[in-house]
Amino acid sequence: MGRFCKCNGRLLCMCLLPCMMTGHLLVYILVTILVTISYTPPKISVHYIASGISANSSVFASHPLGPFWNLRLVNSALWNQLQHAWDRQYNPILQGNKTGIMSAKFLSEIEDECLSDCMSHTCAVPHMHDLNSMPEQMRAFIWSMHCREYPLLVNQPGMCRRNNSSFGPMLLMAIKSQVGNFENRQAIRETWGRSGLVKGESNKKGGLVRTVFLLGRQDSSTGPHPNLQNLLDLENQKYGDILQWDFRDTFFNLTLKDLLFWHWLHQYCPTAIFVFKGDDDVFVRTGALLDYLHKQWEKHNQWKAYTNKTDMDLFVGDVINNAMPNREPSTKYYIPERFYKGRYPPYAGGGGVVYSGSLALRLKEVSEKVRLFPIDDVYLGMCMHRLGLLPSHHPGFLTFDLPGTDRGDPCAYRSVLLVHRRSPKEMLTLWKQLQSPPGRC
Ligand SMILES: *[C@@H]1O[C@H](CO)[C@@H](O)[C@H](O)[C@H]1NC(C)=O
Ligand SMILES: *[C@@H]1O[C@H](CO)[C@@H](O)[C@H](O)[C@H]1NC(C)=O
Ligand SMILES: *[C@@H]1O[C@H](CO)[C@@H](O)[C@H](O)[C@H]1NC(C)=O
Ligand SMILES: *[C@@H]1O[C@H](CO)[C@@H](O)[C@H](O)[C@H]1NC(C)=O
Ligand SMILES: *[C@@H]1O[C@H](CO)[C@@H](O)[C@H](O)[C@H]1NC(C)=O
Ligand SMILES: *[C@@H]1O[C@H](CO)[C@@H](O)[C@H](O)[C@H]1NC(C)=O
Repeated sequence: MGRFCKCNGRLLCMCLLPCMMTGHLLVYILVTILVTISYTPPKISVHYIASGISANSSVFASHPLGPFWNLRLVNSALWNQLQHAWDRQYNPILQGNKTGIMSAKFLSEIEDECLSDCMSHTCAVPHMHDLNSMPEQMRAFIWSMHCREYPLLVNQPGMCRRNNSSFGPMLLMAIKSQVGNFENRQAIRETWGRSGLVKGESNKKGGLVRTVFLLGRQDSSTGPHPNLQNLLDLENQKYGDILQWDFRDTFFNLTLKDLLFWHWLHQYCPTAIFVFKGDDDVFVRTGALLDYLHKQWEKHNQWKAYTNKTDMDLFVGDVINNAMPNREPSTKYYIPERFYKGRYPPYAGGGGVVYSGSLALRLKEVSEKVRLFPIDDVYLGMCMHRLGLLPSHHPGFLTFDLPGTDRGDPCAYRSVLLVHRRSPKEMLTLWKQLQSPPGRC
């Protein structure tokens, strides 16, 4: 009985299925025909008329009503306007006839003047009438956003020449710090930022690691700061890993550290294979990072044989897509709508990123065509965007830390490459915990 039923069901299936499919097909065809019949083409009133052809026929192709790029951007935000002028100036198609581009010419004249004295008032941006209603740090940024070159006060010209090999360090760690953060720097030197040969976590390959700290100026002339310059000099004599430039070390000036570091890298350490750039309150599992980088390096070298592409485009971090600028005036990330309009390009936030040395040199080149932006992570995203590259996301970069219960558990860090944020004390504790051979995780 049962078998008979099953057989019947199968027959039913074999008969019904094609019927149903044909039915669906018929419905689809019907709907398509109906849609096609009911479609009327949009009415376009303006037509392109080639010279020599007499007009008023509907057979001519339509053309856009305005130019396909925006010529003026009159009512746009300040940064967008300034960038727009540069984009036009550096556009290879438009470069043939500079006389046609009034605003770019005007701006480049201003800029020539500003190279010699970038803080002069003529350099402060022309179209900004109500600068005074801007928050203080925004105003300070706008006044100095033409200035991109600051002298080095403390340099490490020999940093990457200490060993005579033609290869640079496997990993150059560039850590943004502030003059007063002695304790952070020391904790980093003693833990994850140790200079020298560092083993990979899997105990296979390691690599030569070099660490530099990126500092601006913080003394009585830049704010109510105690003068710690003598202590800093002492620290530098002992460790030789401080880079300091002559600009005010403020939140909105952090972009300068990236920019100036790229210039330094170009001059003093162009052979570094990878660069880690991060803050002095993060924790990095350097060994694990080296393992990861070795893998990427090997992959790149395998592909190189086929593509002849010597540049490596690695850029990883905690990637944020489609972010809107912060419009809350009380926060330190506040960007007024009059300064920047639109979304941010994809960027890596959260205290640290890794990129290849060759990419760093290209970022340096392209940054000369990107206006300074007050938030450093976003600025890197903008430069990447202009190189036609996207930062890649790596789940090992933790901006928002581990869940509270896991923080003390060394096993929870197994897949972590970077975690934000850790005090110097926590760095030392965590480092010690992670040194002991991995037990049963
Ligand atoms: C084309 O048609 C418009 C009105 O539709 C008319 O004003 C115009 O003079 C015509 N142009 C020519 C060249 O015939
Ligand atoms: C450049 O543009 C101006 C104004 O648009 C024009 O008069 C001039 O002939 C152009 N020069 C060239 C070389 O195209
Ligand atoms: C670099 O040189 C130092 C001594 O000058 C040495 O201890 C270290 O092993 C060298 N590193 C490499 C990778 O050769
Ligand atoms: C590097 O090379 C120079 C000469 O080329 C030599 O005098 C120096 O001792 C070498 N340094 C190391 C660390 O090998
Ligand atoms: C950045 O540094 C320059 C040079 O010291 C200073 O003039 C400017 O005000 C600083 N910008 C901000 C936003 O603090
Ligand atoms: C790579 O370069 C070599 C020599 O420079 C050349 O012989 C080879 O054809 C190139 N391969 C490709 C895929 O371009």
